Amino acid sequence: MRVNVVDHPLVAHKLTVLRDERTDSPTFRRLAEELVTLLAYEATRSVRTEPVRVRTPVAGANGVHLAYPRPLVVPILRAGLGMLEGMTRLVPTAEVGFLGMLRDETTLVASTYADRLPEDATGRQVFVLDPMLATGGTLIAAIELLLARGASDVTAICLLAAPEGLRRLEAAFGGRVDVTVVTAAVDERLNDKGYIVPGLGDAGDRLYGVV
Ligand code: URA
Repeated sequence: MRVNVVDHPLVAHKLTVLRDERTDSPTFRRLAEELVTLLAYEATRSVRTEPVRVRTPVAGANGVHLAYPRPLVVPILRAGLGMLEGMTRLVPTAEVGFLGMLRDETTLVASTYADRLPEDATGRQVFVLDPMLATGGTLIAAIELLLARGASDVTAICLLAAPEGLRRLEAAFGGRVDVTVVTAAVDERLNDKGYIVPGLGDAGDRLYGVV
């Protein structure tokens, strides 16, 4: 498994504003999208392309376009939805599937309550959007599901990661080169409620308010 902590002043700046408890939901949503676009730029470095020939007004030129099948983007409901616009702005031709996962708070086992994904994802390059890699349980279940459906590689894009979650992912996928995590920062730890410290609080609540 590869972990890419994106080191860039604009990423650090936007993440700092997201962390700030005074940042309101509209600003949080806009900045989360902008941050995802920057992370997505790194996450798509290995996206498959095909050679293509075009004509400029001056001459013929060799170029590339995204290969088929198109990349598959999978936001994990609900907070992953806040990352979708930032991702599709960069890769507008990507297809989008949705995955709803719930974690049993006592057993910590993740179960699927919504699955709008292709049954057959053979050869697909998949980008999973999940803002907070905390214990890692949900992300492990999502990645296992996508690999079991044939995905050629899975890249998880997370705004923030906890060392505990990264260790669990490493234990699950350590030997594999087809699993990657791209994140803006790895924080200190999880607290006893499963929140990332210092983190940014509950990403779903910060995006959409408390319901
Ligand atoms: N999910 C969140 O939204 N925030 C955390 O800190 C951990 C998990």
